[in-house]
Amino acid sequence: MEITNVMEYETIAREKLPKMVYDYYASGAEDQWTLQENRNAFSRILFRPRILIDVSSIDTTTTTLGFKVSMPIMIAPTAMQKMAHPEGELATARAASAAGTIMTLSSWGTSSVEEIASTGPGIRFFQLYVCKDRNVVIQLVKRAERAGFKAIVLTVDTPRLGRREADIKNRFALPSNLTLKNFEGLDLGKIDRTNDSGLASYVADQVDQSLSWKDVKWLQTITRLPILVKGVITAEDARLVVQAGAAGVIVSNHGARQLDYVPATIMSLEEVVKAVQGKVPVFLDGGVRRGTDVFKALALGASGVFIGRPVLFSLAADGEAGVRKVLQMLHDELELTMALSGCRSIKEITRAHVVTPWDNPHVAPRL
Ligand SMILES: Cc1cc2nc3c(=O)[nH]c(=O)nc-3n(C[C@H](O)[C@H](O)[C@H](O)COP(=O)(O)O)c2cc1C
Repeated sequence: MEITNVMEYETIAREKLPKMVYDYYASGAEDQWTLQENRNAFSRILFRPRILIDVSSIDTTTTTLGFKVSMPIMIAPTAMQKMAHPEGELATARAASAAGTIMTLSSWGTSSVEEIASTGPGIRFFQLYVCKDRNVVIQLVKRAERAGFKAIVLTVDTPRLGRREADIKNRFALPSNLTLKNFEGLDLGKIDRTNDSGLASYVADQVDQSLSWKDVKWLQTITRLPILVKGVITAEDARLVVQAGAAGVIVSNHGARQLDYVPATIMSLEEVVKAVQGKVPVFLDGGVRRGTDVFKALALGASGVFIGRPVLFSLAADGEAGVRKVLQMLHDELELTMALSGCRSIKEITRAHVVTPWDNPHVAPRL
């Protein structure tokens, strides 16, 4: 079957992957309300396309933290990619480089920062979970720096793991042939089978629940890399991120895997954009599956988006080629959306190109 959109990879992955793995990748927390909402909310935002603009040439390039990228679509950190495909994160890194975009490596990758660096050139970010043992954190950050990673993505929405019931039922554990490579040698590389979700137990043991704003400052004393704070969904916290000196914000609800009944990220985006007042860039992840979704996020003020599950599912279906195809399809869909909306460059995408349920329906949208 010819794949014609990103969503179709999920069907293939579901057939191909062991149930425990598919469920771990696909699931959200508890009732999975936010999981559905991350997708549904995009469908309530509609376009206000402009016509008779010369769109014979469209430029999707932009910059992220000063790095040139081929499109405002990047790869979010997702753990344990070798469960999807033997080449795991290495295939993802190569696909991202080939597409001219950025890959974020998870702390809980089944490939190390050094192995990712060895795949060749490319712009990469390192996602950090702060462990209780700060020496481990310092070493990890130094290793990421030495391996040429360009930014730290600090995940702040996971003091404890959200309740993913499928993982509990499946007694989720990392298959014994795999390790969390960044922690190998530190005796933290395995996720054992427990009578619960193995990952939930791992997080309870390792992740520092006391993490707070002072640690965002502390992180800046141990690295010169820019820090993106991932997991911000309110104006209050967005302002604190700016005050704490971070380089940017990622509006994320962790792919609906942490607190259920938080709004879809596309619903939280504008609040955060307004709060940061242009002082730092704002990115979004969660439910991005179409070029139209990317356009909508940009129209509401995002500087770019990250994708999570589409990478895992395409990796499972077709390895590096699958991830390349996902990135290509999203690129092409974004380009088409821009052409049909009368936008020749990323900068030309404005708030006036979309209408949302919270725009006053009785007043003509601002131009
Ligand atoms: C299987 C899986 C593993 C993930 N692992 C991590 C992780 O290790 N660190 C992190 O910050 N976020 C992690 N996330 C969240 C993603 O970075 C991202 O926020 C989310 O997947 C975006 O939503 P989407 O999957 O709908 O694109 C994970 C998400 C999934 C689905």
